[in-house]
Amino acid sequence: MASEEIVELAKRRGFFFGSNGAYGGTAGFYTFGPQGAALKKNVEDAWRDRFTIREGNREIEAPTIMPEPVFEASGHLDTFDDMLVECPECGESHRADHLVEEVTEIEDAEALPGAEVEELIADNDIACPSCGTALAGVTVEDFNLMFATDIGPGDAQPGYLRPETAQGIFVEFPRLKEYARGNLPFGITQIGPAYRNEISPRGGLLRLREFTQAELEQFIDPEEDEPPLDRVRDVEVRLYPATEQQAEDGEYVETTVGEAVDEGIIGSPWVGYYLGVAKRWYDRVGVDLDRFRFRQHLAGERAHYASDCWDAESEVDGDWIEIAGFSYRSDYDLSKHDAYGDDAFTVFKRYDEPKTVERATVDPDMSVLGPEFGGDAAAVAEALETLAERDPDAFDGETVSVEVGDGDDAETHEVDADVANFSVETVTENGEHLTPHVVEPSFGVGRTVQTLLAHAYSEDEVDGEERTFLSLEPEVAPQDAAVFPLVTNDDRLTELADEVAADLREAGLAVAYDDSGSIGRRYRRQDEIGTPFCVTVDRDGVEGDGEDTVTVRERDSAAQVRVPAAELAAELAALRAG
Ligand code: GAP
Repeated sequence: MASEEIVELAKRRGFFFGSNGAYGGTAGFYTFGPQGAALKKNVEDAWRDRFTIREGNREIEAPTIMPEPVFEASGHLDTFDDMLVECPECGESHRADHLVEEVTEIEDAEALPGAEVEELIADNDIACPSCGTALAGVTVEDFNLMFATDIGPGDAQPGYLRPETAQGIFVEFPRLKEYARGNLPFGITQIGPAYRNEISPRGGLLRLREFTQAELEQFIDPEEDEPPLDRVRDVEVRLYPATEQQAEDGEYVETTVGEAVDEGIIGSPWVGYYLGVAKRWYDRVGVDLDRFRFRQHLAGERAHYASDCWDAESEVDGDWIEIAGFSYRSDYDLSKHDAYGDDAFTVFKRYDEPKTVERATVDPDMSVLGPEFGGDAAAVAEALETLAERDPDAFDGETVSVEVGDGDDAETHEVDADVANFSVETVTENGEHLTPHVVEPSFGVGRTVQTLLAHAYSEDEVDGEERTFLSLEPEVAPQDAAVFPLVTNDDRLTELADEVAADLREAGLAVAYDDSGSIGRRYRRQDEIGTPFCVTVDRDGVEGDGEDTVTVRERDSAAQVRVPAAELAAELAALRAG
């Protein structure tokens, strides 16, 4: 089913539609209608159930606006850019790398330098998709994707809408580690909006400017902590490792998570573990596993924080879409916040037994260091301390040589070894300060919803009539059931139907009530939004042997069974469980 058809069905049946239509619409923003909001919430609940509760993790909710220093530290201010080319004729902006990918064999133009992309635009006579003007000679610019804002009036503090929910977890690490009593490993999740000022939003929910992420930051000691890999060892996976072949002819490996980790195809057991958990979860919520794979990022494709990344991809309308990313973020984020922020982003790792170690120390006499070192005295003292820790032998001679400053400003100083007062002490240490590493499963909720709609979309013939239905898993379907009185001119039927609907709602089910149009029409309406069960009250259900019974029709098979009204809630629960 084509993306446009999904978008059309989504609008017609109240799943989602472009926002602010009355004001001309705003590209990149979508509103979830009643069916879509319910489906999205069910997907989020299923994610929470798996990745928070069943994994023993904890969930937080952080603000979506964060001050500028957070993004200086995280690297987003400097590097969270896409390549923009603006048409000199019509003024429309486009993703330069995407234009190149559309007309060449290159699959990952994003990884190329801007100058090379400019050359490819010229060499391939690439024109503006909006007005056809040739783009040769137009400069490709880096465009930062973050939405900027001001925090407070007057001398406001610059801030940004978070481009990933993850930073809200990282900056609170000093508090969160306390709740984990300083013990690794522990995982924190967050489900919420993220914002990216995408140059060209497209494809319904696929590339939006505001979208929902469900993220897990798993904090680990890389030396000691192992995931419970045995739980997912046998999960079968289709992997596209980052090899030359991946780009050239899409070679893949069919294996199990356990073997892929043992053979080093998946480098981190933690990443392997979460790929296994995710594969099962996608099956649970209704992704068609024949249209699903994991693809490792090529080196140039990885985000600035990731040392390895595997994407979960689903096939929709012939294209492979990234629906989640599983990154090994190492200690990148916590070390950056430790250096830029005003708190400790480390945990204290207690040794099993106290260790006796020799610690080299210096006690440089600053007054002696004074005049001849000018303004560098403090920096020289600090360099001596660092040197003592790393290379105590450097103090064996009469002078010690240290370098201060960076690049062209670097200066080497010779210090009298006596002035440094170098000594080696034997100390007992109970532990060390460790910066945890992070493994991050990061899911796009909207892309999951769009995949589920595409994979659930089905057509068949019932009673000689063609129908369209969404074969959604009952766990995520927007409605649990629909209740219909067969006719509305018989009070006995409407009264029983009202009662049945009220009872099911009281039992916690999301129930639609529909008494308009032919019964066939009402079935079709529910089929198109994926309601798994339709409950009909007919005359046989209010008189004779069948009194107080209803028929239940299962969506995919269209098969019907007669059930006592009093047992309906239990019967639906049994049918749901399969
Ligand atoms: N914290 C890691 C991170 O943000 P990402 O690969 O940039 O990684 C994670 O995003 C997921 O968020 C993607 O796999 C995708 O499903 C979703 N996503 C990213 N940008 C999106 C956009 N503009 N519109 C909709 N979903 C998006």
